[in-house]
Amino acid sequence: MKAFRINSYGADPAFEPVDTPKPKAGEALVKVAAASINPLDNKLQQGYMDAFFPLSFSYTIGTDLAGTVESFGEGNGGFTIGERVVARTAPTAGGAIAEYAIVPVDQLVRIPAGVSFEDAAGVPTAAGTAWQALFEVAKLKSGQTVLIHAGAGGVGSFAIQFARAAGARVITTASGDGVAIAERLGADQVIDYTTEDFTRHVSDVDVVIDTIGGDTQARSFDVLRPGGFLATTVSPPDEALAKAHGVSAAFVFHSSDAGRLATVIDKVAGGVQVLTDRMIDLNDASAGFARQASGRARGKIIVRA
Ligand SMILES: NC(=O)c1ccc[n+]([C@@H]2O[C@H](COP(=O)([O-])OP(=O)(O)OC[C@H]3O[C@@H](n4cnc5c(N)ncnc54)[C@H](OP(=O)(O)O)[C@@H]3O)[C@@H](O)[C@H]2O)c1
Repeated sequence: MKAFRINSYGADPAFEPVDTPKPKAGEALVKVAAASINPLDNKLQQGYMDAFFPLSFSYTIGTDLAGTVESFGEGNGGFTIGERVVARTAPTAGGAIAEYAIVPVDQLVRIPAGVSFEDAAGVPTAAGTAWQALFEVAKLKSGQTVLIHAGAGGVGSFAIQFARAAGARVITTASGDGVAIAERLGADQVIDYTTEDFTRHVSDVDVVIDTIGGDTQARSFDVLRPGGFLATTVSPPDEALAKAHGVSAAFVFHSSDAGRLATVIDKVAGGVQVLTDRMIDLNDASAGFARQASGRARGKIIVRA
């Protein structure tokens, strides 16, 4: 089979012919129909995540995939061959951008009827992180106001929709055509961060979801109400700054969780949109990888196997 691989940190990923992997006990072999690319894949390839997720080479890129169960090792976890499934593999395992991938059976989630492989593949990391940040870390409640940075990005586009559906008022940042995209996704207020300083337009929010870090994260403390919460997906927050503002802050370390993935894929079945930047064929994975690395994607980059 073909797999999109690197053999060292910093190397450009390329397709290599490899043996189709064999599932061990507790694993399934999934015939990949679609995969998605995340900023994590670019960071892993660059070696930036080595302290958390040290890679063994050769490494096949990609954690998010959707497809059909081809075979099992020992134990099927209640799944059957041919079932439509979505999963996130461990970052150290990767393997999604390939014709077949190994997935632990306890990480398999059935794709609800009516959800395409392409939409399902866009869900695991981005939607899972949005859900974890909003409801598990920041504990956003109905009636609260949330500022979500990068509303046209993978995490932000899901976060806008989840927060709105939960009864929150949503403010988001975007630029260019991202402003109209964020409005279409349901944001109550969109601030073009290239022409406006969000700290002049926002105050007393209950929750900030920071997907940018750096100066954006530092300035976000100014717009929280006392007792508010900043959840960041990018870099550990400045605890001293949080204390000085009388707020709490936490880093969101996304953990693969089949239960949470089942929750968010059900939301997609219920109408949550998988904002798709582009849909590309497996052979064009390099272009998709470069597009993701640009930091400008509007939602997910989906690779059709
Ligand atoms: N900690 C974790 O477990 C975890 C999990 C998932 C993601 N993450 C991290 O979270 C970050 C976001 O992930 P993602 O998948 O949403 O990324 P993404 O889809 O690549 O985000 C791209 C979007 O960011 C927007 N953007 C860039 N700079 C901006 C700014 N200063 N203000 C507002 N929007 C801006 C871009 O819009 P413009 O082109 O208009 O600028 C683009 O639409 C990444 O760093 C990722 O690694 C961490």
